[in-house]
Amino acid sequence: MVRTEFLSTGFHVPDRVVTNDDLTAVWETSDTWIRERSGIEARHWIDRQGETATDLALEATRRALEWADMDASEIDCIVYATLSPDHYFPGGGVFLQRKLGLRGIPALDVRNQCSGFLYGLSVADAWIRTGQYRCVLLVGAEVQSVALDVDHLDGRSMGVLFGDGAGAVLLGPTEDPARGVLGTNLFSDGEFAELLWVEGAGMSQSPWITHDDLDSGRLYPQMDGREVFKHAVARMPEAMSALMGDYGVTSADIDLFIAHQANLRINQIVARRLGLREDQVYNNIQNYGNTTAATIPIALDECSRSGRLKRGDLLALAAFGSGFTWGSALVRW
Ligand code: ACO
Repeated sequence: MVRTEFLSTGFHVPDRVVTNDDLTAVWETSDTWIRERSGIEARHWIDRQGETATDLALEATRRALEWADMDASEIDCIVYATLSPDHYFPGGGVFLQRKLGLRGIPALDVRNQCSGFLYGLSVADAWIRTGQYRCVLLVGAEVQSVALDVDHLDGRSMGVLFGDGAGAVLLGPTEDPARGVLGTNLFSDGEFAELLWVEGAGMSQSPWITHDDLDSGRLYPQMDGREVFKHAVARMPEAMSALMGDYGVTSADIDLFIAHQANLRINQIVARRLGLREDQVYNNIQNYGNTTAATIPIALDECSRSGRLKRGDLLALAAFGSGFTWGSALVRW
C-alpha cells in the first residue's frame, strides 16, 4: 500500500525581528498585554519593500530541496497555501514555480488561511496515493505585515498577532508500512465567515475597492477574538479526537503534537483537552507570531532538524482558522 511520506522540510523568515516593545511605537499596546493574551514575544516582518510571500517560499523550498538532496526539476506539482497572495490574481503558486525555474507542472493555490497547510496536505496525499504525482512541493507562505492597519487603534488587536514567514515540505510515495500520512480530516462552517475576515476589497461590492475601505479599516483583517477562541479550543480537539478514533490512536501513542500557532493559550487548552503532556507538544508562536498557513511547516522543520521529531514518531497536527475551517492529520514520520 502506497502512503505519502515527508521527504524533507525547510523554512524561511525575514531577518528583521519585531519585538512586542517595538510595536508600542505603532499602536497603544504593551509587551505584557501581548505576552499574556497570546504568548507572542516577537515576530519577523519583511525588511525590504516588495519582498513577497513567494520570495519567502522560494527560500524555504531551497532549504527543503537541499536537505533532500534534490533538484527543483524533480518536483511534479506545487500546492501553495496563503492568505496573503502576491497579487489578487493569478495565485502565488505560479510565481513560486517561475522563481524555481520550472515550467509546465501544475500549481494549485489553497485559500484556507490558518488551515491551508492541512487542506493542502490532504490534497497532496490523495494525489500521491493515487499515483497522479510522485513529488509534491507543499508550501505555506505569508507576508502579512504590509496588510495590517497601522493607522487605527483597532488595528492593534490583529496587528500584534501576525508574522511573516514560509515553510515548505517535499512529499512523495513510500511503501514502507511503518511510515507516512495515516489520514487527514477537514471541516468548514461558513456560518461564521464574518467572525474573522477582510470585509472590504471584493467583488461583493462595486467598485470592488474604495477609498472608504482604506479609511474605515475595512481593508484590514477583523476578528471577534473571543468567539474565534471559543471555537478554536473546541473544534481542534474534536477533529483530532475523531481522527485518533479512526486510527485507533490514544493520547499516550502520540510522540509530537503541533497545532496551528494562533495563540499559546489556545494550544495549551487544546493539548489539555486531548490529554497530552507538555513534553508531547511543540509551540513556537513565541518567536514567530501567527504566520497563518506557514505555522505548521515552520514548526515541522524546526522539530525535524533539531531531532525533536524522529523517523517513526507518531505526529499529530491540528489547525483552525478563518472560514471557519479546521482539520487534523496523523503522520508516522
Ligand atoms: N494591546 C492592548 N490592548 C488591546 C490590544 C492590544 N494589542 N488588542 C485589544 N486590546 C484591548 C481591547 O480593546 C479590549 O479592551 P476593552 O476591554 O477596553 O474593550 C481588551 O484589550 C480585551 O480584548 P479582547 O479582544 O477581548 O482580548 P482577548 O483576551 O480575547 O485576546 C486575542 C485577544 C489574543 C485576539 C484572542 O481573542 C485570540 O487569540 N483569539 C483567537 C485567535 C485565533 O485563533 N485566530 C484564528 C487564526 S487567525 C486566521 O485564521 C487568519
